[in-house]
Amino acid sequence: MAIIAHLSDPHITSGPLAAAPAAGLHRALSRVLGLEPRPDCVVITGDCADRGGVEEYADLRRLLERYPLPVHLVAGNHDRRAALLAWPGLAGPGATRYVAEYPEFSIIVLDSVEPELDDAGRLGDEQLAWLDDALRQRPEVPAFVCLHHPPVRVGMPGMDAIRLQDGPALAAVVRRHPRVARVLAGHLHRVVSAGFAGTTLSVAPSVFRQVNLDLREGPPVTFVDEPAGLLLHVLLPEPDGGCVTHLVHTSHTSAPFGAY
Ligand SMILES: [Fe+2]
Repeated sequence: MAIIAHLSDPHITSGPLAAAPAAGLHRALSRVLGLEPRPDCVVITGDCADRGGVEEYADLRRLLERYPLPVHLVAGNHDRRAALLAWPGLAGPGATRYVAEYPEFSIIVLDSVEPELDDAGRLGDEQLAWLDDALRQRPEVPAFVCLHHPPVRVGMPGMDAIRLQDGPALAAVVRRHPRVARVLAGHLHRVVSAGFAGTTLSVAPSVFRQVNLDLREGPPVTFVDEPAGLLLHVLLPEPDGGCVTHLVHTSHTSAPFGAY
């Protein structure tokens, strides 16, 4: 059995409001350590920092540097690519897209940040060709394709306006590779799942604050004090096999957590 802990949108910041997002990420990471068996790794699907400031990444580093599990960071529209590139956990210089191979699965991280689009995202043809090639490796091994921006509309017009702009092109690539167990995203600050290109899109909640579910056209996006949480993607052992996803609340709960 393999387990991937999927966190998202910590929005680590500095100044007078720094404590709440830092506590949210710390609580989620600690909750992961309270799980038995422990997940194999943690993926954070973007908006690691809130304003992309150097001091924000310094605090993020402090929160992660002693963490005992591998943590894979994904770039979000609030992040600054240059700061993420300095992160030692990334595959190498110039790579905010990368592959992390595990014996039982692959984590494939994409960079959907496109500053010209403001808060919306795009992968682009060259990156999609890279993904196609990455998915051709180890065809029998389940792959988790991770990006910040959901590639489909989810019925929330305020968030749909800033989704991935080339979702259909991503779907065309993913559809060619049955090894894709999940497409993992963030950005919505809500739990959302949808069928996508023959697999399942799983959007994780924020470990900090949630977006209000608003299905109307027009109102601005607002936040709501709903529980924070994370997703656990579990690859079941044979003979059943397959991937299942669990929601684990990390606030409004007295669940066990581990120190680090
Ligand atoms: Fe966010």
